[in-house]
Amino acid sequence: MKTKITKANKQAIAKAAQILKNNGIVAFPTETVYGLGAYAFDSSAVRKIFMAKGRPADDPLIVHVASIADAEKAVSKIPAVARKLMKEFWPGPLTLVMQKSGRVPREVTAGLPTVAVRMPRHPVALALCKKVGPIAAPSANTFGRPSPTKARHVYDDLKGKIPLIIDGGSTHIGVESTIVSLATKPAKLLRPGKITIEQLQKFLPDIEIATKVGKKKQPLAPGMKYTHYSPKTPVVLVLNPTAEKIQHLVKKEQDKGKKTGLLCAGRYHSEAERVIIIGKTPEAFAKRLFDALRWLDSQKLDVIIAEGLPEKGFGMAVMNRLRRAASKIISH
Ligand code: TXA
Ligand code: MG
Repeated sequence: MKTKITKANKQAIAKAAQILKNNGIVAFPTETVYGLGAYAFDSSAVRKIFMAKGRPADDPLIVHVASIADAEKAVSKIPAVARKLMKEFWPGPLTLVMQKSGRVPREVTAGLPTVAVRMPRHPVALALCKKVGPIAAPSANTFGRPSPTKARHVYDDLKGKIPLIIDGGSTHIGVESTIVSLATKPAKLLRPGKITIEQLQKFLPDIEIATKVGKKKQPLAPGMKYTHYSPKTPVVLVLNPTAEKIQHLVKKEQDKGKKTGLLCAGRYHSEAERVIIIGKTPEAFAKRLFDALRWLDSQKLDVIIAEGLPEKGFGMAVMNRLRRAASKIISH
């Protein structure tokens, strides 16, 4: 199959909608990362997503909607607090897990009684959902690779496997949505994202951060049990970094004969073979993180040293992704 990349415009959206209505799959930009979508109520279309990504069937998908009415089609009963959260944060990077309706096929939820739903803010994603109805979409990467934040990343992973990628440029946020389960009491933060726990606490004062394993020894967000965002090159994550610490580590790796890459927030005088400075704020860091990891991974390095950020506010989401990419974490 030939994979076409088309600039985001009316025709591209119309073409993508047509493919989705005809049981096909397409990649499109959202404000977080690129998604790989299928019409959510079509189980055979949804199965194509798992095939293209090489994603395990026990990892459920997020259903994207353009209206509360469409969310109501996927959810059996929307709790009052969910309506408040939707009013505050939708459209936007907040995914809510609730009891599913009978219309959602088991392929979407991996057999779970719950479904994850979000209303994206990106105009292309919203327009598609408006034309097609609820769209099930995971991130549009090959399973285990960093999520795609550019059309090119999707192409690198999925060329030959999907017919169309809508190119909306670099995604605005750069890390995936915050996921909150309202199916448990108290509510649980399953994945940190741009909507922070501090913001959520106003509506869910007793919200808990999910530990790895739920009641039935099942991870609460099944996808979180897998190693994600993993470059092939080993990543060493440095907590509470200082210029001396970073320089020392780079030198140590180089003394072992290792070609070293450095992923950092600020500027360092460093002898590393490849250096990428992605910005000091969590927002700047998040926006370029996956692109930087993909680029460093293509540079035939032996090791990548990554600088950690303070784990508060949006920094929590960035560090969650970095921790999951890391093969080693240095804390002192
Ligand atoms: O920002 C995003 O959320 C992006 C864009 C495309 O919208 N999507 C995304 O999807 O990150 P994906 O499939 O890469 O991650 C979805 C996560 C997985 O960890 C999955 O296990 C979890 O959501 N999930 C989906 N349905 C769930 C459910 N019913 N209960 C618990 N976790 C669920
Ligand atoms: Mg993903």
